[in-house]
Amino acid sequence: MRVPVALVDAFKDHFEPILTDFMLQNHLIPEGESLDSKRYMTRSIAPHVKTLSALFNRSEGSQTDGIDTEAYWTEGGSAKNRRLAYFLSFMPCNLFRVASVWSELHRLGFKWPFSQEQDFRGLEWGAGLASGACGVVAGERYAPLGMPKTGNFALIEQSKAALSLGTKWFEHFAGAGISARPFHRRVDLSGTWLPPGAPKFHVFVTSYFLNESELPAETLIKNFVDVCDKHLEEEGLVVIVEPAMKLQSRKLLRFRKALLENARVQSGEVGLKVLLPCLGHQACGALAKEEDWCHEEVSWWRPPYLRSLDAMTGLDRKSLPFSYLVIQKTRRSLDEILPNLKGATAERYRLVSPSHSLSKKTSEFFICGQDGKRRTRLALTDITNSETAPDRGDILQNTTLHGESSLSQIDSTEILE
Ligand SMILES: C[S@@+](CC[C@H](N)C(=O)[O-])C[C@H]1O[C@@H](n2cnc3c(N)ncnc32)[C@H](O)[C@@H]1O
Repeated sequence: MRVPVALVDAFKDHFEPILTDFMLQNHLIPEGESLDSKRYMTRSIAPHVKTLSALFNRSEGSQTDGIDTEAYWTEGGSAKNRRLAYFLSFMPCNLFRVASVWSELHRLGFKWPFSQEQDFRGLEWGAGLASGACGVVAGERYAPLGMPKTGNFALIEQSKAALSLGTKWFEHFAGAGISARPFHRRVDLSGTWLPPGAPKFHVFVTSYFLNESELPAETLIKNFVDVCDKHLEEEGLVVIVEPAMKLQSRKLLRFRKALLENARVQSGEVGLKVLLPCLGHQACGALAKEEDWCHEEVSWWRPPYLRSLDAMTGLDRKSLPFSYLVIQKTRRSLDEILPNLKGATAERYRLVSPSHSLSKKTSEFFICGQDGKRRTRLALTDITNSETAPDRGDILQNTTLHGESSLSQIDSTEILE
C-alpha cells in the first residue's frame, strides 16, 4: 500500500514524547526515561509482549476461530504491566494500520461525505486501548478526507480497565475538540450489536476485533447489516482491520462474501458497498482456492523505543501486515466515490502479492480484478507512467493483458500514483 511520506514519518520522533507525557501524567511509568531504560523494558514490558504475541498469533494449539480475551485483560498481579505492554507494543501498530487504510481512501480521492459544520460521530467496536479510533484521527491528520476537526468517538469495550485507559489515551492523542465516550459492555455479536436507543454514526471502525469471536463470518453478517441499517448514517463508512494470518484473513474474506450475498444488501434495501481493497463486488479471487488468503503490508518509521523493544522480543514491526475491508453505506457508484480511479472497471487490478523481478526489465506478481486472481508478468516498458515495477497493494488501471489466469502477460498498464 502506498502510504504518504508524512504518515510514514509521523511516528519516528514525535510519537514517543506524546506517549511518555501521557504515561507520566497517568502514573503508568516510574520516570520520564523509563522507555529508554533497558532494565525497565526488559523486566517489566518485554515478557508480556512475548506472551501477548504468542496469544494473538495462536502459536500454541491450532489456528482456531476466536480467542480467550480474558487471558490478556484479566486483573491480577501483573495486569497493569500487561496493559502497558499492549499499549506500547500493539496499540501503535494497529493505530498505524488503520491510519494507512484511511490514507488509501485519501489517495483514491474519497471526500468526507457529511457537512463540515456537523461534529463527526465515530464508534470503535472492541476498542481496547482505542487504537482504531486513534488511527482514524492520525489518518485524518496526515491524509485528510475532510473530516471536521471536532467530534466524538464512542468506544465500546468489555474490559473496564482497558476501556478506562483507552478513553484517556484517545482524548490525549486526539487533542482539543475531539472527545471519547466509553461504553463498558460486551457486544452480543450473535444478537443486536447496539441498544435500540443508540444514535447513528458517521464512522464505524474495528481493529483486530472480529477475529476474536468464535462465530463464523456468515453469522456475524446478519447482525452487522442490521446495525449498519439502524445506526450508520447514509454515506457512513466502516473500516475493518484484521490480522494477516490465513485463518483470520479468510474469515474477513468470507465476511465480504456473506455481505454481498445478504438478501437485504442484494435487494438494495440496505445500500452497503465494498470500497476497498477490492475495487468492485466481484467474487473474491483469494477465496477461490482453499489455501489462499489476501493481505496488505505497510512500512513505517517505528518510534525509537519500539525498535529497541522489538530487538528485545524478537518481533520485527518494521513492516506491518494486515487484512482490511472498507465498506460504505451508499447508493453512489465506485467511480463517483473514488474519483482518482480512472478508466474502465474491467481494466483495473490490484497487486495482491509482492513483485518478484525475473530480470532487470520484467517482474511477476499476482493481481486481482473483476475476473478473479491471475499470476501475471509485466515488462517495465509496458508501463505508461512509471519506470519502476508496481508492488503489493498498487492499483493498475487502463490495463490490457492476454493469457490464462495461471499466467498472463500485461500488454499495457498505468500505475495509480
Ligand atoms: C485485540 S484487541 C484490539 C483492541 C483495539 N481495537 C486494537 O486494535 O488495538 C480486541 C478487543 O476487543 C474486545 N472484545 C472482544 N470481543 C468483544 C465483545 N464481544 N464486546 C466488547 N469487546 C470485545 C477485547 O476485550 C479487546 O479489547
